[in-house]
Amino acid sequence: MEPFYVTTPIYYVNDVPHIGHAYTTLAADTIARWKRLAGAEVFFLTGTDEHGVNIERKAREAGVSPQEWVDRIAPQWQALWKRLGISNDDFIRTTEPRHIRLAQHLFQRAYDRGVISKGTYEGWYCPSCEAFYTEDELLEGQTCPIHKRPVEWTAEENYLFPLSRYQEWILRKIEREPEFLQPETQRNEMLSLVRGGLRDLAVSRRSVKWGIPVPFDPAQSIYVWIEALMNYVTAIGYLDDPDRYRRFWPAAHHLIGRDINRFHSVIWPCFLEAIGLPSPKQVWAHGFWTVEGEKMSKTRGNFIDPIQEITRLADASGAEWGVAADAFRYTLLREVPFGQDGDYSHAALIHRFNADLANDFGNLLNRTLPLVERHFGGRIPASGAPEGPDGALRRAAADVPGAADRCIGTFDFTRGLAEIWRFLGVANKYIDEAAPWSALKRGDAPRAGAILYNTLEALRIAAILLTPVLPVAALRVWEQLGIPTPLASQRLADVRWGGLPAGIRTRPGPPLFPRIERPNVVGDRAPAAARPRPPEEASR
Ligand code: MSP
Repeated sequence: MEPFYVTTPIYYVNDVPHIGHAYTTLAADTIARWKRLAGAEVFFLTGTDEHGVNIERKAREAGVSPQEWVDRIAPQWQALWKRLGISNDDFIRTTEPRHIRLAQHLFQRAYDRGVISKGTYEGWYCPSCEAFYTEDELLEGQTCPIHKRPVEWTAEENYLFPLSRYQEWILRKIEREPEFLQPETQRNEMLSLVRGGLRDLAVSRRSVKWGIPVPFDPAQSIYVWIEALMNYVTAIGYLDDPDRYRRFWPAAHHLIGRDINRFHSVIWPCFLEAIGLPSPKQVWAHGFWTVEGEKMSKTRGNFIDPIQEITRLADASGAEWGVAADAFRYTLLREVPFGQDGDYSHAALIHRFNADLANDFGNLLNRTLPLVERHFGGRIPASGAPEGPDGALRRAAADVPGAADRCIGTFDFTRGLAEIWRFLGVANKYIDEAAPWSALKRGDAPRAGAILYNTLEALRIAAILLTPVLPVAALRVWEQLGIPTPLASQRLADVRWGGLPAGIRTRPGPPLFPRIERPNVVGDRAPAAARPRPPEEASR
């Protein structure tokens, strides 16, 4: 299987993390975990973007040096990802020596090859984006399309990269390799941007002091966007670990938000082409989140801080914090197809928690384990020869790993999760129809045991497939099933019916997703009576 390299944008250290940042990282974490499950060698990178005028300004406002500022903020990002259980293999900071060396090396290479040369660049410049804009990209009143602030006409002598020379090359690449740039909407947008003509790009700045010096002209610093993009090759060891570099480049999948698409799918590949390096395999530009119909902003006060949002859910439900974090992640990936814009609401989170996670998933465990406890001494009963509805459940179990892989493995999280939920639906229907409680009443313990075995086996398979999306909750299910082999050692290809060992001791625990009965009351806990009912009753 081909090695899989996935990256997030490196985040600016002048901002507080919000749902938009968390989204890219959670999606990247999910695909990284999925590919590991599928047996690929994975390298998952995230990090922080620490140079440029905005960061210099922030540091000045805080009365500290830029280095002190970035050293203060970068650990906050690292702590956020740790808290969210992100499984990144590396965290790159662009102020690290390894990156400074790499950026200077590639810039020198561009200069030595005659790719870049000195010239005067004039244009509309947005200091917040640290980017020049063409006339028709600007909004009315000469304002930046991203920040809605006035741009400044700026003339500077610096090094220029003749992007226009690569226009035909990149156009053909995007046209001929649909997989290179996804989704289709973003691909079309870039095609029209390139067809409209590309302007040459200033790749150094004389005015920016907080940056990496141009090695052959230290009065200039490398344009922060070019330098930032280079992090993707620094981290896999272009300079210091050539073996790793060869394994993971160009197997890179850059996950980004659509606002930074042109940097990733046009400028970056053109620059790499110019210096004789291959382009990344894929750029995936996801959509933007609004909150309850509005653009997120600090002034509107509708900024969604992922940690606060998860804590609110954990408090309202009584769920373990990590399980609440899983629910948040599940909601983001399930609600909106990856690539489309979406609107976030707390109500949607509560709904997904109650309906999908508590009712369809958690409750299946809560309905079965107490029966195993009461009637089979808490040990997984033996599976009998298939009969009646067993066949349909087994068939669904055989199909779901492949179906989920075809979707989640290609970034279609929404459909992949729908496939897994379809399977959970089959399992819920199965236990209702097969009715182990009736078999028990009839005194047919072997049949009741077989039905419970089948249901728990379906849950075991679901837990494996859900690990990349619900890492904490899936582990708790695994623990309650009492399976001695570690969940982390499971591989997609080994997911086969019958893997649940009969006779092992189950370890029933409290409900993983305690239903939220009065969702409007923040911090309210579901009253005990509203928690999942005892299995016999719940099945009627
Ligand atoms: N530092 C650059 C990236 C350099 S990559 C070589 C940057 N950083 S950022 O912190 O401003 O943004 C990081 C990511 O967050 C971007 O992918 C951006 O699209 C994403 N989002 C910011 N707001 C968002 C939403 N409201 N919704 C979804 N994603 C959003 O850009």
